[in-house]
Amino acid sequence: MYFSWSRKPKYSTTFRLYFLHNLNIFFSNLAMSMVSFAMSHFSSTLSFNFPTHHTNFSRYTKSFTITTSASLDYSTDKSTVSLKTSNWQWKFKDNSIKIYYEEHGNESDGPRKNILMIPAISDISSVEEWRLVAKDIIQRSGNANWRATIVDWPGLGYSERPKIDYNADVMESFLVDFILDQNTPVSSLGIAEDLVIIGGGHGATLAIRAAKKGLIKPTAIVAVAPTWSGPLPIHFGRDSKTESRYKLLRDTLRSPVVGWMMYKLTVSNKEFMRHQYKSHIYADYANVTSAIIDSRHELTKMKGARYAPASFLTGLFDPVKTREEFLELFEGLEDKLPVLVVSTSSAKKKSKAEMEALREARGVSKFVEVPGALLPQEEYSYLVARELYSFLQNII
Ligand SMILES: *[C@@H]1O[C@H](CO)[C@@H](O)[C@H](O)[C@H]1NC(C)=O
Ligand SMILES: *[C@@H]1O[C@H](CO)[C@@H](O)[C@H](O)[C@H]1NC(C)=O
Ligand SMILES: *[C@@H]1O[C@H](CO)[C@@H](O)[C@H](O)[C@H]1NC(C)=O
Repeated sequence: MYFSWSRKPKYSTTFRLYFLHNLNIFFSNLAMSMVSFAMSHFSSTLSFNFPTHHTNFSRYTKSFTITTSASLDYSTDKSTVSLKTSNWQWKFKDNSIKIYYEEHGNESDGPRKNILMIPAISDISSVEEWRLVAKDIIQRSGNANWRATIVDWPGLGYSERPKIDYNADVMESFLVDFILDQNTPVSSLGIAEDLVIIGGGHGATLAIRAAKKGLIKPTAIVAVAPTWSGPLPIHFGRDSKTESRYKLLRDTLRSPVVGWMMYKLTVSNKEFMRHQYKSHIYADYANVTSAIIDSRHELTKMKGARYAPASFLTGLFDPVKTREEFLELFEGLEDKLPVLVVSTSSAKKKSKAEMEALREARGVSKFVEVPGALLPQEEYSYLVARELYSFLQNII
């Protein structure tokens, strides 16, 4: 809006102005006119108070009171597929992080066909995005022992969100541990069971990366609207200058008072979220309902909610750094396991180009396109379920 990314900050001598410069970039490019009022408000109060560390927070948040209304109620679902929700403690370094997961399908003896669904990584990531697809697939499967587990990433969704240094390697370790640990529903140790991983966005690419490294050995992988570049890197690229700005922004977002305010005014702001959904997450404006925004907004209010999103925005979850590396991940799975890529017809140009690059790529056994943008599994669940079911039928 007021500054362009490439322009040198005029007053870069003080941290304060440098910070504000980055703040403006953050707003103007990630978001837009809708929060410009919030921005000017925030900037002016910040420029006045930030250096003194005497911010009286209640004074500045009055106009941004968080209101919540309806949240989606899934308990009234009449389907016959049972749903079990549970937690698993993930031991990571000195932390024990409570991980939320859901199991869809009937209990049954005999070898199981396990499907692990992992949400796209983002500030609005949650098991909810896969729920309808899971139900649909299980219902279609009739008497087969299919079971779908959907798990929330540490730091996102309904999992705990401690202040750890979130990055792609941490998420990869999590995924590998969840699959190998004997106390999880998808445990694949020692038993001849199928495990198909279905992931969205960065989640899909991280699963492909872990499989290519040989850390996990799934029967097949489905990558739905796969991505590998976070919101800021996809717009501004990566070089030493941008990386240091991303780091500054990330550190600021993680900081106690200012970071929390900034998060509330941007990522955890309904207008901002609505804009995100309309501009690149969903394909159809009419699908961006208040119910969906409210339910996602609830997620951003959880304790520690901003730490993982701070990493996501600034590219720390990016599994690779170039398209060549992205293609190499898939090539590494050629002749090892079937890989289905589900692209979308309305993804934004840059995201779409990465998906299109997989169309003829080695290691991709099947490539299909469905309506949608970055969350087709949520926006067009029945169409995604149909594609997944037809692929799964032939492999498990
Ligand atoms: C902060 O501002 C609010 C509203 O102006 C006021 O009620 C409150 O007493 C102030 N708190 C402190 C610690 O100054
Ligand atoms: C699951 O169990 C319910 C009853 O408990 C039954 O009606 C339903 O058909 C079963 N579904 C599958 C996929 O076996
Ligand atoms: C989104 O809109 C399409 C029609 O364009 C509709 O078929 C679909 O069910 C909608 N999805 C959601 C989640 O409302």
